[in-house]
Amino acid sequence: MTEVKEHYAAPNLIERIDQALVAAGKSPDSLQLADLTPIDEFHLRGAMATNELIELLDVSQGNRVLDVGSGLGGPARRLAAATGCHVTGVDLSEDFCLAGNELSRRVGLAEQVNLEPGNAMQLELFESSPFDAAWSIHVGMNVEQKDSFYSGIARVLSSGARFLVFDILSAGSDDILFPVPWADEPAHSFLATVDEMSALLKAAGFTIERTVDQSAQCLAFLDELFERMKQEGSPPALGLHVVTGPSFGEAIRTVRRNLVEGLVVPTVIHARKSERSSVR
Ligand SMILES: C[S@@+](CC[C@H](N)C(=O)[O-])C[C@H]1O[C@@H](n2cnc3c(N)ncnc32)[C@H](O)[C@@H]1O
Repeated sequence: MTEVKEHYAAPNLIERIDQALVAAGKSPDSLQLADLTPIDEFHLRGAMATNELIELLDVSQGNRVLDVGSGLGGPARRLAAATGCHVTGVDLSEDFCLAGNELSRRVGLAEQVNLEPGNAMQLELFESSPFDAAWSIHVGMNVEQKDSFYSGIARVLSSGARFLVFDILSAGSDDILFPVPWADEPAHSFLATVDEMSALLKAAGFTIERTVDQSAQCLAFLDELFERMKQEGSPPALGLHVVTGPSFGEAIRTVRRNLVEGLVVPTVIHARKSERSSVR
Protein backbone atom coordinates (compact mmCIF):
# COMPACT_ATOMS: atom_id res chain seq x y z
CA MET A 1 0.00 0.00 0.00
CA THR A 2 2.90 2.32 0.82
CA GLU A 3 4.21 1.85 -2.73
CA VAL A 4 0.82 2.83 -4.20
CA LYS A 5 0.70 5.88 -1.95
CA GLU A 6 4.21 6.86 -3.01
CA HIS A 7 3.38 6.31 -6.66
CA TYR A 8 0.56 8.88 -6.42
CA ALA A 9 2.44 11.35 -4.18
CA ALA A 10 1.92 14.88 -5.50
CA PRO A 11 3.53 17.51 -3.25
CA ASN A 12 2.45 21.16 -3.62
CA LEU A 13 -0.28 20.02 -5.97
CA ILE A 14 -2.65 22.97 -5.60
CA GLU A 15 0.21 25.43 -6.23
CA ARG A 16 1.21 23.52 -9.39
CA ILE A 17 -2.40 23.37 -10.55
CA ASP A 18 -2.80 27.11 -10.00
CA GLN A 19 0.33 27.83 -12.05
CA ALA A 20 -0.98 25.62 -14.86
CA LEU A 21 -4.41 27.27 -14.72
CA VAL A 22 -2.83 30.71 -15.05
CA ALA A 23 -0.64 29.47 -17.93
CA ALA A 24 -3.82 28.22 -19.63
CA GLY A 25 -5.43 31.66 -19.23
CA LYS A 26 -7.81 30.67 -16.39
CA SER A 27 -8.32 32.46 -13.13
CA PRO A 28 -7.79 30.04 -10.20
CA ASP A 29 -10.31 32.03 -8.12
CA SER A 30 -13.20 31.97 -10.57
CA LEU A 31 -13.22 28.43 -11.87
CA GLN A 32 -15.91 26.49 -13.69
CA LEU A 33 -16.11 22.71 -13.39
CA ALA A 34 -15.17 22.35 -17.07
CA ASP A 35 -11.91 24.30 -16.55
CA LEU A 36 -10.63 21.39 -14.44
CA THR A 37 -11.46 18.56 -16.85
CA PRO A 38 -7.92 18.22 -18.29
CA ILE A 39 -6.44 17.61 -14.83
CA ASP A 40 -9.07 16.09 -12.56
CA GLU A 41 -10.32 13.09 -14.57
CA PHE A 42 -7.56 10.53 -14.05
CA HIS A 43 -8.83 7.72 -16.31
CA LEU A 44 -9.22 6.83 -19.97
CA ARG A 45 -11.79 8.88 -21.90
CA GLY A 46 -11.85 11.52 -19.13
CA ALA A 47 -15.10 13.42 -18.63
CA MET A 48 -16.71 11.55 -21.53
CA ALA A 49 -16.49 8.30 -19.58
CA THR A 50 -17.58 9.99 -16.35
CA ASN A 51 -20.70 11.42 -18.01
CA GLU A 52 -21.65 7.92 -19.23
CA LEU A 53 -21.10 6.51 -15.73
CA ILE A 54 -23.28 9.28 -14.24
CA GLU A 55 -26.15 8.21 -16.54
CA LEU A 56 -25.66 4.58 -15.53
CA LEU A 57 -25.41 5.26 -11.79
CA ASP A 58 -28.90 6.79 -11.83
CA VAL A 59 -28.78 8.72 -8.54
CA SER A 60 -30.54 11.94 -7.55
CA GLN A 61 -30.65 14.70 -4.96
CA GLY A 62 -30.52 13.32 -1.45
CA ASN A 63 -28.67 10.14 -2.42
CA ARG A 64 -25.30 9.38 -0.86
CA VAL A 65 -22.64 7.98 -3.14
CA LEU A 66 -19.23 6.49 -2.39
CA ASP A 67 -16.36 7.11 -4.82
CA VAL A 68 -13.70 4.49 -4.06
CA GLY A 69 -10.24 5.80 -5.02
CA SER A 70 -11.57 9.25 -5.85
CA GLY A 71 -8.23 10.83 -6.91
CA LEU A 72 -8.49 14.60 -7.31
CA GLY A 73 -12.29 14.31 -7.26
CA GLY A 74 -13.18 15.22 -10.86
CA PRO A 75 -15.69 12.35 -11.27
CA ALA A 76 -17.15 13.06 -7.80
CA ARG A 77 -17.66 16.77 -8.56
CA ARG A 78 -19.17 16.05 -11.97
CA LEU A 79 -21.59 13.53 -10.42
CA ALA A 80 -22.57 15.87 -7.57
CA ALA A 81 -23.11 18.82 -9.93
CA ALA A 82 -25.17 16.77 -12.40
CA THR A 83 -27.44 15.02 -9.90
CA GLY A 84 -27.47 17.01 -6.63
CA CYS A 85 -26.31 13.92 -4.71
CA HIS A 86 -23.69 13.92 -1.97
CA VAL A 87 -20.40 12.16 -2.73
CA THR A 88 -17.88 10.84 -0.24
CA GLY A 89 -14.56 10.05 -1.89
CA VAL A 90 -11.91 7.91 -0.26
CA ASP A 91 -8.34 7.98 -1.54
CA LEU A 92 -4.94 6.83 -0.30
CA SER A 93 -3.35 10.07 -1.49
CA GLU A 94 -3.60 12.89 1.04
CA ASP A 95 -2.17 15.23 -1.60
CA PHE A 96 -5.07 14.45 -3.96
CA CYS A 97 -7.71 14.80 -1.22
CA LEU A 98 -6.31 18.12 0.00
CA ALA A 99 -6.09 19.66 -3.48
CA GLY A 100 -9.40 18.08 -4.52
CA ASN A 101 -11.30 19.52 -1.54
CA GLU A 102 -9.85 22.95 -2.32
CA LEU A 103 -10.99 22.66 -5.96
CA SER A 104 -14.49 21.60 -4.79
CA ARG A 105 -14.63 24.69 -2.58
CA ARG A 106 -13.65 26.92 -5.49
CA VAL A 107 -16.39 25.56 -7.77
CA GLY A 108 -19.02 25.79 -5.01
CA LEU A 109 -19.32 22.04 -4.33
CA ALA A 110 -17.71 21.84 -0.87
CA GLU A 111 -21.04 20.95 0.74
CA GLN A 112 -21.71 18.11 -1.69
CA VAL A 113 -18.29 16.51 -2.16
CA ASN A 114 -16.01 15.38 0.64
CA LEU A 115 -12.73 13.63 -0.18
CA GLU A 116 -11.32 11.72 2.77
CA PRO A 117 -7.75 10.43 2.85
CA GLY A 118 -7.61 6.76 3.71
CA ASN A 119 -7.33 3.19 2.58
CA ALA A 120 -10.42 1.83 0.82
CA MET A 121 -9.56 -1.56 2.33
CA GLN A 122 -10.86 -0.11 5.61
CA LEU A 123 -14.10 1.55 4.55
CA GLU A 124 -15.86 0.82 7.83
CA LEU A 125 -13.85 3.73 9.28
CA PHE A 126 -15.54 6.23 7.01
CA GLU A 127 -19.30 5.78 7.31
CA SER A 128 -21.74 4.21 9.70
CA SER A 129 -24.88 4.16 7.53
CA PRO A 130 -25.04 2.55 4.09
CA PHE A 131 -24.45 4.36 0.78
CA ASP A 132 -27.09 4.39 -1.99
CA ALA A 133 -24.54 3.74 -4.77
CA ALA A 134 -20.81 3.56 -5.45
CA TRP A 135 -18.26 3.56 -8.23
CA SER A 136 -14.57 2.84 -8.53
CA ILE A 137 -12.75 4.25 -11.55
CA HIS A 138 -9.26 3.00 -12.53
CA VAL A 139 -8.42 1.87 -9.00
CA GLY A 140 -8.54 -1.95 -9.02
CA MET A 141 -5.31 -2.08 -11.06
CA ASN A 142 -3.49 -1.03 -7.85
CA VAL A 143 -5.35 -3.44 -5.55
CA GLU A 144 -3.77 -6.80 -4.81
CA GLN A 145 -6.34 -8.08 -2.26
CA LYS A 146 -9.36 -7.65 -4.49
CA ASP A 147 -11.57 -10.04 -2.50
CA SER A 148 -11.47 -7.91 0.66
CA PHE A 149 -11.56 -4.70 -1.40
CA TYR A 150 -14.88 -5.58 -3.08
CA SER A 151 -16.48 -7.21 -0.04
CA GLY A 152 -15.60 -4.05 1.94
CA ILE A 153 -17.43 -1.95 -0.66
CA ALA A 154 -20.45 -4.30 -0.59
CA ARG A 155 -20.57 -4.00 3.19
CA VAL A 156 -21.10 -0.20 3.11
CA LEU A 157 -23.80 -0.28 0.39
CA SER A 158 -27.54 -0.61 0.91
CA SER A 159 -29.24 -3.69 -0.48
CA GLY A 160 -29.81 -3.39 -4.25
CA ALA A 161 -27.41 -0.42 -4.56
CA ARG A 162 -25.67 0.02 -7.89
CA PHE A 163 -21.89 -0.34 -8.10
CA LEU A 164 -19.97 0.59 -11.25
CA VAL A 165 -16.38 -0.38 -11.93
CA PHE A 166 -14.39 1.17 -14.78
CA ASP A 167 -10.97 -0.50 -14.78
CA ILE A 168 -8.24 -1.65 -17.11
CA LEU A 169 -8.44 -5.43 -17.03
CA SER A 170 -5.99 -8.05 -18.21
CA ALA A 171 -6.70 -9.79 -21.52
CA GLY A 172 -5.24 -12.97 -20.01
CA SER A 173 -1.49 -12.57 -20.40
CA ASP A 174 0.57 -11.98 -17.26
CA ASP A 175 2.93 -9.70 -19.17
CA ILE A 176 1.93 -6.16 -19.96
CA LEU A 177 4.26 -3.33 -20.93
CA PHE A 178 5.51 -0.80 -18.36
CA PRO A 179 5.52 1.99 -17.23
CA VAL A 180 1.77 2.65 -17.15
CA PRO A 181 0.04 5.49 -15.26
CA TRP A 182 -0.87 3.23 -12.31
CA ALA A 183 2.53 1.51 -11.91
CA ASP A 184 6.14 1.86 -13.03
CA GLU A 185 6.85 -1.86 -12.68
CA PRO A 186 5.03 -5.22 -12.58
CA ALA A 187 5.34 -5.55 -8.77
CA HIS A 188 2.78 -2.75 -8.28
CA SER A 189 0.24 -3.72 -10.93
CA PHE A 190 -2.56 -6.22 -10.25
CA LEU A 191 -4.77 -6.68 -13.29
CA ALA A 192 -7.65 -9.16 -13.15
CA THR A 193 -9.32 -10.70 -16.19
CA VAL A 194 -13.00 -10.10 -16.81
CA ASP A 195 -13.81 -13.63 -15.60
CA GLU A 196 -11.78 -13.13 -12.44
CA MET A 197 -13.54 -9.80 -11.80
CA SER A 198 -16.96 -11.39 -12.25
CA ALA A 199 -16.08 -14.15 -9.80
CA LEU A 200 -14.62 -11.67 -7.28
CA LEU A 201 -17.64 -9.38 -7.42
CA LYS A 202 -20.11 -12.26 -7.11
CA ALA A 203 -18.23 -13.65 -4.11
CA ALA A 204 -18.28 -10.17 -2.56
CA GLY A 205 -22.09 -10.09 -2.74
CA PHE A 206 -22.77 -8.37 -6.09
CA THR A 207 -24.89 -9.38 -9.06
CA ILE A 208 -23.29 -8.55 -12.43
CA GLU A 209 -25.78 -6.94 -14.81
CA ARG A 210 -23.48 -6.13 -17.74
CA THR A 211 -19.82 -6.07 -18.74
CA VAL A 212 -18.83 -3.64 -21.49
CA ASP A 213 -15.50 -3.78 -23.37
CA GLN A 214 -14.38 -0.17 -23.98
CA SER A 215 -11.20 -0.96 -25.92
CA ALA A 216 -12.29 0.66 -29.19
CA GLN A 217 -13.53 3.85 -27.52
CA CYS A 218 -10.36 4.12 -25.41
CA LEU A 219 -8.08 3.60 -28.39
CA ALA A 220 -9.97 6.28 -30.36
CA PHE A 221 -9.66 8.62 -27.37
CA LEU A 222 -5.89 8.09 -27.12
CA ASP A 223 -5.35 8.46 -30.87
CA GLU A 224 -7.21 11.77 -30.81
CA LEU A 225 -5.22 12.95 -27.79
CA PHE A 226 -1.87 12.13 -29.41
CA GLU A 227 -2.92 13.70 -32.71
CA ARG A 228 -3.89 16.92 -30.90
CA MET A 229 -0.55 16.95 -29.05
CA LYS A 230 1.31 16.41 -32.33
CA GLN A 231 -0.47 19.33 -33.95
CA GLU A 232 0.09 21.60 -30.96
CA GLY A 233 3.78 20.61 -30.81
CA SER A 234 4.05 20.41 -27.01
CA PRO A 235 2.01 19.25 -24.04
CA PRO A 236 -0.82 21.69 -23.22
CA ALA A 237 -0.50 23.89 -20.11
CA LEU A 238 -3.24 21.85 -18.45
CA GLY A 239 -3.01 18.08 -18.51
CA LEU A 240 -2.47 15.08 -16.25
CA HIS A 241 1.31 15.69 -16.42
CA VAL A 242 0.63 18.61 -14.05
CA VAL A 243 -0.61 16.08 -11.49
CA THR A 244 1.78 13.17 -12.07
CA GLY A 245 4.91 14.86 -13.46
CA PRO A 246 6.55 14.53 -16.90
CA SER A 247 6.58 10.71 -16.81
CA PHE A 248 2.88 10.75 -17.72
CA GLY A 249 3.63 11.07 -21.46
CA GLU A 250 5.54 7.78 -21.67
CA ALA A 251 3.09 6.00 -19.36
CA ILE A 252 0.01 6.91 -21.40
CA ARG A 253 1.78 5.94 -24.64
CA THR A 254 2.47 2.55 -23.08
CA VAL A 255 -1.23 2.15 -22.29
CA ARG A 256 -1.90 2.62 -26.01
CA ARG A 257 0.71 -0.03 -26.89
CA ASN A 258 -0.86 -2.44 -24.40
CA LEU A 259 -4.24 -1.79 -26.01
CA VAL A 260 -2.99 -2.18 -29.58
CA GLU A 261 -1.21 -5.43 -28.68
CA GLY A 262 -4.40 -6.74 -27.09
CA LEU A 263 -2.85 -7.13 -23.63
CA VAL A 264 -5.41 -5.06 -21.70
CA VAL A 265 -9.16 -4.54 -21.88
CA PRO A 266 -10.63 -1.32 -20.42
CA THR A 267 -13.99 -2.51 -19.09
CA VAL A 268 -17.08 -1.08 -17.42
CA ILE A 269 -18.84 -3.50 -15.11
CA HIS A 270 -22.42 -2.77 -14.02
CA ALA A 271 -23.02 -4.49 -10.69
CA ARG A 272 -25.64 -4.31 -7.97
CA LYS A 273 -25.41 -5.36 -4.37
CA SER A 274 -27.45 -8.54 -4.24
CA GLU A 275 -30.75 -8.11 -2.37
CA ARG A 276 -30.02 -11.09 -0.18
CA SER A 277 -26.25 -10.66 0.06
CA SER A 278 -24.79 -12.48 3.01
CA VAL A 279 -22.00 -9.87 3.26
CA ARG A 280 -22.36 -7.81 6.45
C1 LIG B 1 -5.67 6.40 -11.66
S1 LIG B 1 -6.22 7.20 -10.21
C2 LIG B 1 -7.97 7.36 -10.50
C3 LIG B 1 -8.59 8.48 -9.68
C4 LIG B 1 -10.08 8.74 -9.92
N1 LIG B 1 -10.88 7.55 -9.69
C5 LIG B 1 -10.32 9.26 -11.31
O1 LIG B 1 -10.78 8.46 -12.15
O2 LIG B 1 -10.06 10.44 -11.57
C6 LIG B 1 -6.19 5.85 -9.00
C7 LIG B 1 -6.46 6.33 -7.60
O3 LIG B 1 -6.74 5.21 -6.75
C8 LIG B 1 -6.21 5.49 -5.47
N2 LIG B 1 -6.07 4.22 -4.74
C9 LIG B 1 -5.39 3.10 -5.10
N3 LIG B 1 -5.52 2.14 -4.16
C10 LIG B 1 -6.30 2.66 -3.17
C11 LIG B 1 -6.78 2.18 -1.92
N4 LIG B 1 -6.49 0.96 -1.48
N5 LIG B 1 -7.56 2.99 -1.18
C12 LIG B 1 -7.86 4.23 -1.60
N6 LIG B 1 -7.43 4.75 -2.76
C13 LIG B 1 -6.66 3.98 -3.54
C14 LIG B 1 -4.90 6.20 -5.77
O4 LIG B 1 -4.41 6.92 -4.67
C15 LIG B 1 -5.30 7.09 -6.96
O5 LIG B 1 -5.73 8.36 -6.55
